[in-house]
Amino acid sequence: MVFKVSLVSTSPIDGQKPGTSGLRKKVKVFKQPNYLHNFVQSTFNALTPEKVKGATLVVSGDGRYYSNDAVQIIIKMAAANGVRRVWVGKNTLLSTPAVSAVIRERSGADGSKATGGFILTASHNPGGPTEDFGIKYNMENGGPAPESITDKIYENTKTIKEYPIAEDLPIVDISAIGVSSFEGPEGKFDVEVFDSADDYVKLMKSIFDFESIRKLLSSPKFSFCYDAMHGVAGAYAHRIFVEELGAQESSLLNCVPKEDFGGGHPDPNLTYAKELVARMGLGKSDTGVEPPEFGAAADGDADRNMILGKRFFVTPSDSVAIIAANAVGAIPYFSTGLKGVARSMPTSAALDVVAKSLNLKFFEVPTGWKFFGNLMDAGMCSVCGEESFGTGSDHIREKDGIWAVLAWLSILAHKNKETLDGDAKLVTVEDIVRKHWATYGRHYYTRYDYENVDAGKAKELMEHLVKLQSTIPEVNKMVKGIRSDVANVSSADEFEYKDPVDGSISKHQGIRYLFEDGSRLVFRLSGTGSEGATIRLYIEQYEKDASKTGRESHEALSPLVDIALKLSKMEEFTGRSAPTVIT
Ligand code: G6P
Ligand code: ZN
Repeated sequence: MVFKVSLVSTSPIDGQKPGTSGLRKKVKVFKQPNYLHNFVQSTFNALTPEKVKGATLVVSGDGRYYSNDAVQIIIKMAAANGVRRVWVGKNTLLSTPAVSAVIRERSGADGSKATGGFILTASHNPGGPTEDFGIKYNMENGGPAPESITDKIYENTKTIKEYPIAEDLPIVDISAIGVSSFEGPEGKFDVEVFDSADDYVKLMKSIFDFESIRKLLSSPKFSFCYDAMHGVAGAYAHRIFVEELGAQESSLLNCVPKEDFGGGHPDPNLTYAKELVARMGLGKSDTGVEPPEFGAAADGDADRNMILGKRFFVTPSDSVAIIAANAVGAIPYFSTGLKGVARSMPTSAALDVVAKSLNLKFFEVPTGWKFFGNLMDAGMCSVCGEESFGTGSDHIREKDGIWAVLAWLSILAHKNKETLDGDAKLVTVEDIVRKHWATYGRHYYTRYDYENVDAGKAKELMEHLVKLQSTIPEVNKMVKGIRSDVANVSSADEFEYKDPVDGSISKHQGIRYLFEDGSRLVFRLSGTGSEGATIRLYIEQYEKDASKTGRESHEALSPLVDIALKLSKMEEFTGRSAPTVIT
């Protein structure tokens, strides 16, 4: 069929500045006339023409509520803007890491490659008619658009006057694999719907030794559980864990993607992944059933992960350090060594100790995956991670929840090479972590989140903390007044980062109080919320003495928690006597 293009007049809509990971708002905001259209056109206008005209674009996401409508709108606008073809995962489903993989790896029948893609997700935020929707643009390296582009998009949203759209293009059936071809004023336009998992599974098989993981999963000594929290990870879990690796069907929890995530909050942490937490023996009450040896969960768009052992929580900061320490022997992709490792600033320094001991290049970057992407493109970093349940490698340019699970399964398979057959005891997740602490020391770590706080008050709290930094002796007097058993603050600053690749400088990336014994307090405002402000407080204490690495985390950290709350006047500013979430 031949479609026509019409120009629609519009006017700027306030508040379309993309955050850390794109534009995230309530669905009702996105449903306002022209809201999505303005943002999509502002993105097209921010790209160089060859990334639009004649280009191939990926459009998909975590399948949350409003995704179907959004995909059809973007298809019509892509057609009108002269895009040559749009690639859509079946039922609009592609995990964020899979989009990155598809952009980097997939070739069309005629050899075409994608130059970018729209990811439709609000990540770990709830979905549904009264919840969140989101959109972000990824570039041809498969990573999120850099600030130079997102700034341009934002500027464009402030001046937009019109957008072209192919209104009469029929609704494309995205539930069936196949190509729909159309003809427009600028020539051919195709929409190709493809299997959501194929390209991603192929990539995972090129990284990991599936045979050895299969052997682990089929051992009677091992048991496994995966919770997709009704997010898009469900579109991969059955294929990878059951079909490819032989896990039991019953080891999959909440693995049917739902547009409202079953009413849950699809964030894999000890608070929200309730079902998994209970099954792993970490719930408030005992289920009476022996927990599996290994458990993991993903967020809505499957880039985050939480790793659990039997009755045992692995902090994300420890997880990346342990993966880095074991990658070379356990994961074929890394057999020639690691190019370097990196963590975000608020992530604990567990990775630093591994990097030092293995003599690896090491980088501390601001929060947000895009900073890792630059290092990876420059061949400086192989493995990286964040405290916010993100772990990944340079196989793509997003964090990767299922990759992290496969990395852990690979390490377990490697450590258990000799124990799976015969009577020897299984080396468990907990064994691996405790041994790691004994070798490298332990970074006791916790994060307190104060969600949906009044934005003005949050800003005042941050200003108060910055002001305090000018008088460290005063701060130390206060510290000693609160707890005499805590080390002195040696320095305090606002974290600033100069990207070693492009020289760009990112300021105001979090307020740090660094203690003489290596302990740290970090305060930041979340960049991903959609309402009010969220204050994050990160608390960390390093213990080198192997005889003291087995304490309860909250007990070890309680002096520092006390200091942090009093120093920041948390309750005074926020009116909250307790955080919303503790991880
Ligand atoms: C997203 C990004 C992560 C980042 C996180 C921070 O998930 O992809 O790279 O760590 O946001 O979120 P926050 O709410 O702390 O700004
Ligand atoms: Zn996510």
